[in-house]
Amino acid sequence: MGAVTAPTASDARTEIEMVEALGEARDRTLALVASLSAANLERVHSPLMSPLVWDLAHIAAYEDLWLVHRYGERPLLHEDLAATYDAFETPRSARGNIELLDAGQARAYLGDVRARTLEVIDERGVGDATLHEMVLRHEHQHNETMLQTLQLACLGDYELADRRPLPAASPSSHSAPTGLEMLEVPAGPCTIGASADGFAYDNERPRHRTDVRAYQIGRTPVTNATFLTFVEGGGYQRREWWSAEGWAWKEQYDITRPAAWTADLAAEWRLGQLEPLHPDRPVVHVSWFEADAFARAHGARLPTEAEWEKAATWDQERQAARRYPWGDEPPVPGVHANLDQSGCGTAPVGAHPEGASPCGCLAMLGDVWEWTASPFDGYSGFVAYPYREYSEVFFGDGYRVLRGGSWATRTRVASPSFRNWDYPQRRQIFAGVRIARDA
Ligand SMILES: [Fe+2]
Repeated sequence: MGAVTAPTASDARTEIEMVEALGEARDRTLALVASLSAANLERVHSPLMSPLVWDLAHIAAYEDLWLVHRYGERPLLHEDLAATYDAFETPRSARGNIELLDAGQARAYLGDVRARTLEVIDERGVGDATLHEMVLRHEHQHNETMLQTLQLACLGDYELADRRPLPAASPSSHSAPTGLEMLEVPAGPCTIGASADGFAYDNERPRHRTDVRAYQIGRTPVTNATFLTFVEGGGYQRREWWSAEGWAWKEQYDITRPAAWTADLAAEWRLGQLEPLHPDRPVVHVSWFEADAFARAHGARLPTEAEWEKAATWDQERQAARRYPWGDEPPVPGVHANLDQSGCGTAPVGAHPEGASPCGCLAMLGDVWEWTASPFDGYSGFVAYPYREYSEVFFGDGYRVLRGGSWATRTRVASPSFRNWDYPQRRQIFAGVRIARDA
């Protein structure tokens, strides 16, 4: 790790911005759990997820490891806790069965580590800021994981301060999108992946050119109303629409509707509130198997990653990829996309027309992660960085890639080249469906 840990001179502005960003990230982490009792922080809400106190102490342990121990060359604050809060040594399934720091101790650990991080920055700056950026994004990403846990907990009384009101409907409500309107993307090359400059994860690189055949892609994610029609039309009973593995999973667990919907198909859980099913919001909490069956039922399929990224970024006229679907300007939540958590749920699929991609797709970033047809693997020329456990150990293990982030994704980590991955039966992610078809 020599190359990444060696401190180099950093300019004062980078340092100030990083300290501010770390502070802002911590404010959000604490805001997410501010209304929770110690019991709700310490409980296992779902066998798929960690108790929230584990996430808190793990955020502290990861920061201590990378910014204080490896970058700052100081001993760990709590060597004895290192294994408990290492994601690999203590997998999710084990986290509810071992002794963890309680809510007060976990908060104190976060504060103590942060004081050390700031001391180290005072002493030696942030270098090229790569490690600080990685730790910052790690905290942002755990915030989304924590919201998944809170969603699964169905607490009924969860409160987040400073909620941002979401648009009630798409601007052109007389022709509200359904998720079945298709756009044509002509055949031709495009570039995929993150550029060599700036921060990106190892699995987004190297950026490469690829040729994509002509295809159609949904202008928006599939809405609740459209998915409801699928459910009521026998979507979960028609064997011919399901893959063999998907059907076996559905039968074994008696899956009959998206995970957050009530049995009468009239309401859905939205982060601690049961709300009437909104027809224009994207369907969310579906597995890859369900997304795939929905697509097949409509004579379609899920887009490949290359198709998804081309539709999100490729500017046909300029023959160049945009940084974001709408251009190079960083996302403004509420203008370009429904991002950054404070909306506390999805918005109607056409609600952010200013976020349109070059080919006209809406909501490519934010609202719901979108399942792709692609298995998770490294691009040709992949090099693991900064450690193999970030992504390489997951390659070729049956995971499917999701793209685009969700309403629970923080703005800084929302990017059209970011690749998320999970097993095809999983439904805890804020995941929905966008369909594609051969032209
Ligand atoms: Fe982590």
